[in-house]
Amino acid sequence: MNFLAVRHKGGAIVDKLLLPVLLGTNRKKRNSVFPAKWLVGEMQKRAEIQTRLFDAADFALPHDDYGQEIKNLFPEWRDTIMQADGLVIISPEYNHGYPGALKAVLDLLLKEYIHKAVAFVGVSAGPWGGTRVIEAMVPMVRELGLAVTFTDLNFPFVQKTFDAEGKLLDQAFEKRAKDFLAELVWLSRVLKWGRENLPSKHHQTKPS
Ligand SMILES: Cc1cc2nc3c(=O)[nH]c(=O)nc-3n(C[C@H](O)[C@H](O)[C@H](O)COP(=O)(O)O)c2cc1C
Repeated sequence: MNFLAVRHKGGAIVDKLLLPVLLGTNRKKRNSVFPAKWLVGEMQKRAEIQTRLFDAADFALPHDDYGQEIKNLFPEWRDTIMQADGLVIISPEYNHGYPGALKAVLDLLLKEYIHKAVAFVGVSAGPWGGTRVIEAMVPMVRELGLAVTFTDLNFPFVQKTFDAEGKLLDQAFEKRAKDFLAELVWLSRVLKWGRENLPSKHHQTKPS
């Protein structure tokens, strides 16, 4: 077995999926960092997932340039998304929209996202758990060629859901994260098979 393969419950050997996580806010006092770190920890417990956290705050984006023209300034992001099977986006809701920093990071790439899965985590201080920001992100990621899962993970009242050290205080999120990841893994695997086996002008199929 190569290190990118795992044995599935049914006994079949399947490829490990590369599913990076993007934390979409660079606000200094952001609470979204807690669900982001916690979820990465949950993903790292699963044998079929390889992941790492990308943080919008770590991208030194220039003020006078934008988009794919500057993608080579961020080779780790570029190369990871090229190899990725899907993406998790964790976003707070800012005035019912997504942070500009998140959009600026996503806009660095385009063809690298095509026919890959994306799953959303919404975060808010109030009761809605980022449902409105997730709705706002759907048409945007569609233009990037990403395919959206339908099982979101919402963190309402995030300031009460984690303590000051980032420890999860409500264990109900463990089951929610399990369902959220199961759906992302399923869709990522379907799309990986499709990219490798079904011809498309957007990517090469596997040589037979
Ligand atoms: C600029 C800004 C706009 C915000 N707008 C909303 C909003 O539209 N809806 C909402 O539920 N919370 C809103 N909030 C509060 C966030 O839900 C809260 O800060 C939460 O902790 C998630 O964001 P954070 O990761 O930046 O902390 C806003 C916060 C900021 C800084």
